[in-house]
Order: sequence, then C-alpha cells, then structure tokens
Amino acid sequence: TPDAHSQPTGRTSPLKRFGLAKESINKTFGLIKTELLEAHAILVEAKGGESGEGGGRTTVLLEKTAGIEEILARDHMKVAFFGRTSNGKSTVVNALLHDKVLPAGIGHTTNCFLSVIGVDEDKGYVIVPGSGEHSDIKSLQQLANSLHKERLSTNSLLRVCWPKEKCALLQEDVEFVDSPGIDMNPDVDDWINSHCLDADVFVLVSNAESTLMNAEKNFFHRVSERLSRPNIFILNNRWDVCVEEEPSMVEEVKQQHLENDISFLSNQLSVIDPDTARERVYFVSAKEVVTIRNRQRENQSDLGRGLHDGYKGRLLEFERFELKFKECLSNSAIKTKFEQHHSRGLEIVLELEELLNFESEQATQKNSLIQSELQEICSKQQNLNDKGHLVYQRSIQKTQSMAAELESRVQAAMEG
Ligand code: GTP
Ligand code: MG
Repeated sequence: TPDAHSQPTGRTSPLKRFGLAKESINKTFGLIKTELLEAHAILVEAKGGESGEGGGRTTVLLEKTAGIEEILARDHMKVAFFGRTSNGKSTVVNALLHDKVLPAGIGHTTNCFLSVIGVDEDKGYVIVPGSGEHSDIKSLQQLANSLHKERLSTNSLLRVCWPKEKCALLQEDVEFVDSPGIDMNPDVDDWINSHCLDADVFVLVSNAESTLMNAEKNFFHRVSERLSRPNIFILNNRWDVCVEEEPSMVEEVKQQHLENDISFLSNQLSVIDPDTARERVYFVSAKEVVTIRNRQRENQSDLGRGLHDGYKGRLLEFERFELKFKECLSNSAIKTKFEQHHSRGLEIVLELEELLNFESEQATQKNSLIQSELQEICSKQQNLNDKGHLVYQRSIQKTQSMAAELESRVQAAMEG
C-alpha cells in the first residue's frame, strides 16, 4: 500500500535484526528437534522398541523444545506508553501507526490497557474480551468502557488487531501497549506485574507545557526497582503548543526540560549514563505527525496546512525518535528474549550430548563384555577341540595297535 511504502522498509529498519534473529533461532531449534527425534529413535530401537530411560529423557527434551518454539512464535517486541491523562499517549501510538486507530481526545479517554498487534487480515478489528469474537474497530471505545465497568479496574487489557500491511512497524513484530493516565490512582504493582515485566521499551509521554509530575516519576521508580535498567524514552509532547504560546522562551524551556529529563533518567533512576540519556529525550507534536501522515496517505499536496511554524523540524524530531527507539527496541528484545532461548537451547543440546555420551559408554561397556564372553566361549571351544583331537588321536593309535596285533595273530595262526 502507499502507506506502507512511505515508511522505512524492512530492509532499512533496525527492527529487521529482530526478524532475522527470530528466523535464525527458529532454524536452530528446528535442527535441535531433528537431532532429538533421531536420538530418540536410536535409543528406542536399542531397547528393542521400548522407551527406556534414554527414550524418556529425549521425550522430555522434545517437549521443552516444543515449548520454546511456541513462545518464539508468540514473541513480539513490546513497547509500553505511560504518562498522565491527556498528555497524548494514544496520539503518539496513532502517529507510529500512521493512522487514527486508537481513540484520542480531551478528558480521560483511555480507561483500560490497549494492546495493538499486526494481523494478516486487510481490516482492523478488536477482540471482544471473554467471547474472543471480532468487533469493528469503531466499537473500541465502547468495549473499553464496558470492560472497565465490568472489571472495575484499569488493569484490563483489550486487544486491537491492525493490518500489518498498513504499518511497517507491525510487520516487524512490534506490539504497542497504550495505558490509562498514570494519575488515575492505579494499583501500580498490579500494572507493572501485568503489563511491564516483558516490555522491551517504555515511552514516557509527558506534557511539554509542564514539568514531569511525581505520579510519572514514582511509576518509573517502581518499574526500575522491578526491572534491571529498563529502556525509557521521554517524549515532551505538545511541543507545537509550547512553540506557539512562548516563542521567545522556547529555547530556555527546552533546555530546562532536557536537563530535568536527563537528570531523571541518569541520576534519579540511574538507568543510563547522561550522554545516552540525551538520545532518549525528544520534543515532538504527536498530533501534527498524525495529521501529516494522514495527509501523506491520502496523497494531499499541502501537508503543513494549518499547522504551526516549525512543523517540519518537529516531524524530523519525531522521525529521529522513531529511529533511535527502533534500534533500542530491536537490541533490547534480541537480548531479553533470545538470549534466554539461546541459553535454554544450549542446555538442551548439552543434556542431549551428555545423554548420548552416557548411552554410548554403556553400549561400549556392554560390547566389551560380550566380546570377552565370546572370547571365553571360543577358548572353551578350543579346549574342547584340543581334547577331542587327543581322544581321536589316541583311538587311532589304539585301533592301529589292535589292527597290528590282530594282523600278527592272523599271521601266527596261518603259519601254525
Ligand atoms: P488518556 O487516554 O485520557 O489518558 O489521554 P492520552 O494521553 O491518550 O491523550 P490523547 O492522545 O487522547 O490526547 C489528548 C488530547 O490532546 C487530544 O485532543 C489530542 O488531539 C491532543 N494532543 C495530543 N498530542 C498533541 C500534540 O502534540 N499537540 C497538540 N496540540 N495536541 C495534542
Ligand atoms: Mg489515551
């Protein structure tokens, strides 16, 4: 589609590395499975068709491999968006999706967690919680409201499926998780346990018109207590409004935010050094990006119509954020997800090696036992043969002497 074509293609995207790593680790597990099946067949055959201890162990290893393959098939790169109500979290997700997919508006809009993943169908839909039925994307807000009322908690998750062909990021196995405002008195531990422990990247969407609030800071303090060095980006959103309202102060305000955000990430949370933290802070207008990308999709000519001055610079800043965030996402996901699978795969291979070594040692020992038994039988046989030969020799001699005696008697009788 023109939309997908206007976005960075898979080849140039750093996220491609995740896909390649996934492909390569999938192939490796395929090979491990083939080896395990072969080893299993050999061990069962050696036991005359029975599983035995070796066959039992290969069955367990095969089950482990199948479990990892299943997790691998489900693995996504997960990005979670947090921030206060109305800071523009849903608008940022829409900007990344190049379309107005999630409901965004003034007031408290998102009241439960929303997960967006890519699907092969050509039309987006929402999965109705409980029944699993597909519902029109237009019913998203209504479904979210009823889910929120039903469960009386903001912690519920609604799945939104969006055509992969409309968004390059979804083609690359990325999952976006949008959240309700952090200022809505959430059960923070519950939120973190349910939605954050497997997130590869966190995006804190802040309102550039004010400074970071304690609710936002406290949430990330709790996240970094649970996860070692979480990857956090800070988007100072609504930058278009700041530029419009305070043109003379804009550089000063930007510097202030930059210093505060860097200090929050590097000194207060201690998740990153100050230089790297500088690459994690951006000044954007998600609303403008959504407008521009919608116009691009519709092939409109005047992309900046009605937007505030400097929109091109803010769009470029958003693109810079996308690039950095993709790099970070891919690196983190490969490390957190595949490193774990890699070491479990290695464990399986080592266990198989140990099992085969043990079985082959047992077979060698059995073989030498049979050999020595065979040798013993042979020497007994030889012994018997030798004895038999002796008896045979003696009986020949005896027969010969008896014949000679008989002959001499016959001779004597004839002479007599
Ligand atoms: P909740 O879901 O209620 O927590 O809010 P949210 O953080 O998801 O904010 P949402 O995306 O719904 O945006 C809130 C309002 O701010 C909407 O009317 C958006 O159009 C507007 N908005 C979002 N980003 C920007 C921006 O960068 N500039 C301007 N001017 N408005 C924005
Ligand atoms: Mg929202």
